[in-house]
Amino acid sequence: MLRKKWAKIPVWILSLAPAAYLGWRAWNQDLTANPIEYITHFTGDWTIRFLVFTLAITPLRKLLRMPDMIKFRRLIGLFAFFYGFLHFSTYLGVDKFFDFQEIWADVAKRPYITMGFLGFVCMLPLAVTSTTGWIRRIGGKRWQTLHRLIYASAIAGVIHYYWLVKSDIRQPRLYAILVGVLLAYRLVVWVMGRKPAPAVRASVMAR
Ligand code: HEM
Repeated sequence: MLRKKWAKIPVWILSLAPAAYLGWRAWNQDLTANPIEYITHFTGDWTIRFLVFTLAITPLRKLLRMPDMIKFRRLIGLFAFFYGFLHFSTYLGVDKFFDFQEIWADVAKRPYITMGFLGFVCMLPLAVTSTTGWIRRIGGKRWQTLHRLIYASAIAGVIHYYWLVKSDIRQPRLYAILVGVLLAYRLVVWVMGRKPAPAVRASVMAR
């Protein structure tokens, strides 16, 4: 089923559902007493969720033996950028009215903003190079290496969340565990897949 041409349609619909819900609430003027705060929190939550979804694709496709799931990874990653862009734009345009002096002072002075900014900056090259043309231009291997920036983005996103909450750390802790497990999985796969060192190889061959 995953190989079918239409298989991406449900992913598009599900990924756009949070944005549609937000749009619906905005249309009905139902964005709570503090709409800027509501939109910032809503889009921030969906940015980190989509980062986690993107990181979960590789382990899931192996665990469930569904290699075709890979075709959704780029799309879901782009939705992480989409919600990150909405989140950043809310801060930039609606909260700070494009006052770049104030924004820059905020980035430099408030550590959680610095970390969020770093997370967003790490997503930019991923979004720009997400097309097949770019994969061809820079080569699959280099493209894959570049796209490991998503790890930095997810880590920065979790720290950003940790640093911004005042007392209840349950949510950021949950995301820290999820991102930690998903990155640990990659570390284990990488360690197990490494070729033995020449000395070890020689002793194995001599046996
Ligand atoms: C990887 C990129 C980012 C992720 C994953 C992320 C995620 C989040 C999350 C999960 C929240 C809290 C939502 C909640 O409490 O329900 C949040 C809040 C917030 N984020 Fe981000 N964010 C990112 C980038 C940024 C950037 C670039 C900025 C601005 C420069 C920013 C500014 C804010 C602000 C102002 C808040 C609200 C803080 C508060 O109300 O105390 N974020 N973000």
